[in-house]
Amino acid sequence: MNPTPLFLPCAAGVEPLLADEVRRILSEVAPRAAESLHLGRGGVRLVGSLNTAMRLNLESRLASRVLWQVAAGGYRDERDLYDLATGVDWPAWIMPHQTIRVDTTATRSPLQSLHFASLRIKDAVCDVMRAENGQRPDVDPRHPHVALVLHLTEDRAALYVDTSGEALFKRGWREAKGEAPLKETLAAAMLAAAGWQGREEDGPLLDPCCGAGTIAIEAAQITCGIAPGLNRSFAFEKLAPFRAEAVAWQQLKAEARERQHAPRVGVYAGDVSFRMTDFATRNAERAGVAHAIEFKTADALQRPAPAEHGILILNPPYGERIDAKGTGSAPRTYDPEHDFDDEGPAPRGARSDAGAREGFEDGGSPTAFFNALSAHWKRQYSGWTAWVLSPDAKLPQAMRLKESRRIPMFNGSIDCRLFRFDLVAGSNRKPAEDGSVARRGDEDTDR
Ligand SMILES: C[S@@+](CC[C@H](N)C(=O)[O-])C[C@H]1O[C@@H](n2cnc3c(N)ncnc32)[C@H](O)[C@@H]1O
Repeated sequence: MNPTPLFLPCAAGVEPLLADEVRRILSEVAPRAAESLHLGRGGVRLVGSLNTAMRLNLESRLASRVLWQVAAGGYRDERDLYDLATGVDWPAWIMPHQTIRVDTTATRSPLQSLHFASLRIKDAVCDVMRAENGQRPDVDPRHPHVALVLHLTEDRAALYVDTSGEALFKRGWREAKGEAPLKETLAAAMLAAAGWQGREEDGPLLDPCCGAGTIAIEAAQITCGIAPGLNRSFAFEKLAPFRAEAVAWQQLKAEARERQHAPRVGVYAGDVSFRMTDFATRNAERAGVAHAIEFKTADALQRPAPAEHGILILNPPYGERIDAKGTGSAPRTYDPEHDFDDEGPAPRGARSDAGAREGFEDGGSPTAFFNALSAHWKRQYSGWTAWVLSPDAKLPQAMRLKESRRIPMFNGSIDCRLFRFDLVAGSNRKPAEDGSVARRGDEDTDR
């Protein structure tokens, strides 16, 4: 099968990071595909072969899918969509006993019903298949063998076969989730935005509020050279055109395994809840990186820096979704099932950091938590860079820190910012790489 247009959707705002990643994956092995790459809205486009599609499924951390275009053209109504889809050689893709599903996405489409658009595509596929084989595929909305994606703009339609199946953020290692886990693709986007590639020069990494461990596990796989898709299967493995590529697919996976190596830098993670560090440890075991992460059940408001410098990267507890805990919270009843620290069971809310405790009698409000966190970082993490994902645009004020970067990112449908804070002690304020100067807020209590 000839190279064809591929579309790799991703979360809004992540497109440039995905473009860099795809270029990095392909520049040596498929330079023409890498050169054909274009930034699109909600993803990137390129022209690639079956091999390129398989490789991107295996290696991309930021794409949510790899879509293989089978038809594209102008349209005015559903009849045009039907005609477009009847032009595809469906028997080359679908066997009569296999099931299908059609999803439609649109930007400024004039059509009344996207559901009806999906139905017309399904009709076209079934009519072509019936004419060819006397049999039509069934629809399975949940686990189809072949998932089709129709994308409509104002006057253009593109029809794709989804080569990924389950969305790519499902890496195959997560069983224990916790309360508010990040998608793996978003954790990877945070790391990419921070420019952290797991090299020695990137320095060690700590997520002190790790929950189910998503950021640390992504980071550990990166620093060990582990491809994100090695633990899962993909829809293309059952698609007819890819079956001829079975040997090449095994080879791609074998090469990816050979590229794995010992961790190049330290990855540290922890959570105040023993239950969460236990979840995270089990997830790390399944992801093959338990050896590369040092987990600790610890209060982020007290945890000492594990190295002289490095990056802190986290999505801290916020709002109703998940409570801030630790010394910033009002003392609570001891829960023997969940409340342990490294030394064994201990009542949560035990206070040992006098400075961080000040002003917490309000019962652990987010403001008190972030105040205490920045006070702790200023004392113990000078020389580190912190990257914090938050839906609160006023987080820098709450932390009494001036951000040196603010990158828009979506956590699902939640509009967030990834803030960068350069943690410098006292007068040792240094300009950030982008030329801005990290300053403490005027009301900084830690001067
Ligand atoms: C939004 S969740 C992080 C989710 C995580 N990134 C993941 O993908 O699963 C915030 C986490 O912060 C933890 N947490 C709350 N207060 C803490 C504290 N004082 N120290 C350390 N962790 C804390 C919570 O237990 C929760 O697991």
